Amino acid sequence: ATTAITALALAGCSGGAGNGGEGDGGSTSTTVMKLALNQPETHPSFIALEAFGEQLKEDTDGRWDIEVHANSTLGNQDEYLQSVSQGVIDLAIVSAPQLENLNKDFVLFSLPKVFDDIDHQMSVLSDDEIVGDLYGSLAESNNIDVVGGLTQGERSIYLKDTIAETPADLEGKKIRVQESPVFMAMIEALGASPTPLPFGDVYSGLQSGVVDGAENNEISYFSNKHHEVAPYFSFTRHLVGADFLIINSDTLSEMSEEDRAAFDEGWTAAWEQHTELWKTDTEKAIADAEAGGAEFSEVDTEAFTEALEPLLDEFLTEDSQTTLYEAIRGAAE
Ligand code: GCU
Repeated sequence: ATTAITALALAGCSGGAGNGGEGDGGSTSTTVMKLALNQPETHPSFIALEAFGEQLKEDTDGRWDIEVHANSTLGNQDEYLQSVSQGVIDLAIVSAPQLENLNKDFVLFSLPKVFDDIDHQMSVLSDDEIVGDLYGSLAESNNIDVVGGLTQGERSIYLKDTIAETPADLEGKKIRVQESPVFMAMIEALGASPTPLPFGDVYSGLQSGVVDGAENNEISYFSNKHHEVAPYFSFTRHLVGADFLIINSDTLSEMSEEDRAAFDEGWTAAWEQHTELWKTDTEKAIADAEAGGAEFSEVDTEAFTEALEPLLDEFLTEDSQTTLYEAIRGAAE
C-alpha cells in the first residue's frame, strides 16, 4: 500500500505550481502541501481544513497552499505517520491513538474522564504551556511536528442489532477499535472483544459482520454512513476524543518567518471554526441519521464510566504522564 501512496503523491506533486494567478509578476511559485484525511467532504474537519488552505494561500500571496485529500484516498492513518515522516505527504489528520504508538504521553487524549467537555479539551489542545513540548517531541525521532488538535467530540458505542444499555449488553460482541492498546483495553474492560480495524474498513466490517459494533462520535457515524449498517447508537459518551494535525518537520522549517506566522494564524482560525461547526453539526448528524433509520438511546452512562475507571491507573504509569494529566485537570477549573 505504501508504494501506491508514493506513486499517487508524486503524481500530483508539481501540479499546483505555476498557476499563482493574481499579480503580473508571475515569479511566485506555489508550494502545494498535500493533506491526508480519512473523512468525507461533508465532515467539519474537511470543511475547516479546506478553508485553512484558502486562507493560507491568500495570506502568503500564493506561496503556500493546502490540498486536502478526503476519504482515505491517501491511505489509512497508520500509513499517514510514515508518509508524513518521509515527506511523501506534508500534512495529515491522525487520531490520538496513532501518536500514542510514537510517544506514550499521547495516551492521555484517549482516556475517559480526562476532559470534561469539548471546550475544556480545546483550551488544553491549544495551550502551548501544556502541550507545547509534547507537540514538539516527535521532531527528532520521527521528523513530525504536531501543529495542533481538533476535537472528535464524545465517543459512544453503536451496534448492529441492539441497544447497549449497560456493559453487560456487550458480552460476546466484537467491537471495532482504533489500532491502539488503550482502545483494546477499553473494550475488554467493558466485557466485549476488541477488533482493531482502520477507520476506512469499518463500514464493510459492520456490513459483513466481521464486527458487531464500533464506537465513535455522531458526526463520523453519520457522515461515513455507519448508521446504515449499525443503527443502534447508545449514548455511552465514554470519552472526548482528539485528532491531531501533523506536519513534516522539514516542510515546516522551509517556511519563512512571515509565512509561518500566517500558517499559525490560519490554523487557529481553522480549529476555532471546526469547534463551532462541531457543535451545530452534531445535532444535525443525529437528526439526519434518525431520518435514515438510526435509533439513538440514552443509556446507563454511569455503568460504562465505572467499568472504565481502572484504565486511568493502568495507563498513567510514567511521571511525564501524571504531570500532563494534572496540568489538564488543572485547566478544567
Ligand atoms: C474519529 C476521528 C478519526 C478516527 C476515527 C476512528 O472519527 O475523527 O480521526 O480515525 O474516529 O475511530 O478511527
